[in-house]
Order: sequence, then structure tokens, then C-alpha cells
Amino acid sequence: MAGGKGERFWPASRLARPKHLLPIVGEKPMLTQTIDRLVGLLPAENIIVITNSEQLEGVREVCPMLPEANIVAEPVGRDTAAAVGLAMLLVKERNPAAAMAMLPADALINDADSYQSALDTAFKVAESSPSLVTLGVQPTEPATGYGYIQCGPVKDVIDNRDIFTVRQFKEKPDLETAKLYLQSGEYFWNAGMFVWSVETISAALAEFTPVLKQGLDEIEAGMKAGKELVPLLSELYPNLEKISVDFAIMEKAKNVMTLAATFDWDDVGAWPAIERHFPADRAGNVNKGEARFLECSNNIVVAGDKHLVAMVGVEDLIVVTTGDATLICAKDKAEKIKAMVRKLGEEE
Ligand code: GDD
Ligand code: MG
Repeated sequence: MAGGKGERFWPASRLARPKHLLPIVGEKPMLTQTIDRLVGLLPAENIIVITNSEQLEGVREVCPMLPEANIVAEPVGRDTAAAVGLAMLLVKERNPAAAMAMLPADALINDADSYQSALDTAFKVAESSPSLVTLGVQPTEPATGYGYIQCGPVKDVIDNRDIFTVRQFKEKPDLETAKLYLQSGEYFWNAGMFVWSVETISAALAEFTPVLKQGLDEIEAGMKAGKELVPLLSELYPNLEKISVDFAIMEKAKNVMTLAATFDWDDVGAWPAIERHFPADRAGNVNKGEARFLECSNNIVVAGDKHLVAMVGVEDLIVVTTGDATLICAKDKAEKIKAMVRKLGEEE
């Protein structure tokens, strides 16, 4: 799934070049890292990227290892449930008996071996039972930007891993609720990685999002009639219901299973996250690019294009410069950058 806007990383992230096409952390763009991480588990011909038309060129550039037909663009973004539906149709066309993983393009994971081993087990669960399998991350704070998975009893043990039934899936709870979840010790964060068979996800779409499923059925009928995918999607995709897979399916389904993500995982969701990945000076300033500090503390500066940033006597700021824009934002207001991007869009 590589069709998000990455608005929280403005001004580095733009419509045609959102965060998964940028090397926010690491040398390669996050999407390239995501695909590289699968080498050995899946052959390139079995990896499909679902992006959108604005990002298509950029995605092709950073995914030279994939066959061109495996990079599919939505004419407009209809959120992740529609992207899941489209991916399901593309996998089904190749092999209706297959199991498939839906993976985000914006997670930072270093231990590829452990990641592949967890995915491999998730595939075994999805291939042997009609389950919607999720990977759960041990939570460390009451974050409100993630889904939460409440574990039930262990249903099975596969490859020495506990496979838990799931009592409840709650997408992005408010802070009070997130605190209660954390205290209870019963919840994982949802890593946003899902593994299921074509048959199981197709049935879940039909049960919980019948209107979306109907739209997908029309696309499938066109594919079966031999219509070309690009014009077919241009005609039918914009009409699909816009909702995330978390709200549309995961919160409602009863056949969710989860296993622990035993690998390192970091959702690099917004500028403050880069503090976890770059060294700070003694006053806590993180400098990615060209910056000089005088009597400053705890700032984050990302200065591109040989642009020198000099800061005097300020603290807890995020400053990001690109060729044509500069962001100056209070660190504790970083979640508002998205609103600013929307505001800028209105002014254009
Ligand atoms: N193709 C396509 N089309 N991809 C999309 C679209 C779309 O319309 N919208 C988002 N994506 C992609 C993003 O680029 C990203 O790789 C992935 O789908 C997840 O979307 P996000 O927008 O980043 O979701 P989130 O981070 O708010 O929440 C999800 O991930 C969290 C973990 O990082 C949820 O699954 C949460 O429950 C989860 O905790
Ligand atoms: Mg995300």
C-alpha cells in the first residue's frame, strides 16, 4: 500500500513525492526499503505496489526491481479498504487460492530476518484457517495514531509463536482510552500489516462493506471481460466507498487473529519521529542537514539543498527547508502540520 499522502512530512513530502518515496530515515526511500525487506520471502513477480496516479512515476523510479505490470495506480485515492479490494482482485486474477499480505510502505524495520519469519508464520495461519491475521507490536506509550488489538486466548502455536484470538480491534482510540488499553496489558498496537487468503478477505469485504464489494465486483467483471485495467479503473474506481480497512473490516470482523511482531518496528509518522533515528547534540538539537545552533535546545532541523539554517535562543522547534518552502513548527504541535497542508491547498 503506497498511496498515502504523507502530509505530516510537509514540506519534504509532496503530493507527487510523499514520504514513502523519500529517504526520511535510511539511505533509500521507505517504499524501496519495504520491498528490499521481502527479498528471499517472495519473488519480485509476486510483489504488487498499489499507488495512485500522481505518484506513479515516482514509484516506478524507486521500484526498478518490480515488473512494470506490478505497479498499479488508483486514479484517485479511496483509502485502504479500496486498495485492499483492488489488491485482492489482482492476486485473485493470478491465483484465486492464494494467501496475500497487505503491507504499509511507511514502517521502519531493520531486522529483515525476524520480519520475514513472522510474516511466514502469518501466512501459515492465513493458509490453514479463514482468519484475518494481524501483526501486533508491544505498545510503549498511549499513542493515538495506531490501531489497538486486544488479545484473547491463544488459539494455536505455530513455529513456536503464540497465535492469539482477538477480542477487539479499535482503530485510533482517544488518549484516555489508549491509556486504559496500555494499563490493561492486554493490547498490541496494530502494525498495519495484514495477511489473509483471497477467499477470506473477499468474504469479509462482502459482509462488512457490501457497497464497496459491489463496486469491486464490477471491476472484476471488467477484468474478466478482458478490458484494460487503466481505463477500467478510471471509470469505476472513483465511485468506490472511501474508508480505511481498519474501520471498514478490522473493527467489525470476528475472525481476527494476531501474533507478536518480534522485530524492531517504528512507524515514522511525523517529524518528531526522526529524533529516534539521528543523534542529538548535548543540548538535544537534531541536525539533519546544515544547521548551527547558539543557545538552543531540543530543536529538529532538516535543511535541504545546501541551505544553512542558523538558530539563536530557541527551543522545541521543528524547522524544515526545501527548495521552495520552509516549515517552522512548535514540536508539540507537529500533528497540526496536516491541517496546515490542507489550508495551503485551499489557498492554491
Ligand atoms: N494505495 C493506497 N491508497 N495506499 C494508501 C491509501 C490509499 O488511498 N491511503 C493510505 N495508503 C497507504 C499509506 O501510504 C501507507 O503505506 C499505508 O497505506 C497505511 O496508511 P496510513 O495512512 O499511513 O495509515 P495510518 O498510519 O494512519 O494507520 C494504519 O497504520 C498504523 C501503523 O502504522 C492503521 O492500520 C493503524 O491501525 C496502524 O496502527
Ligand atoms: Mg502510517
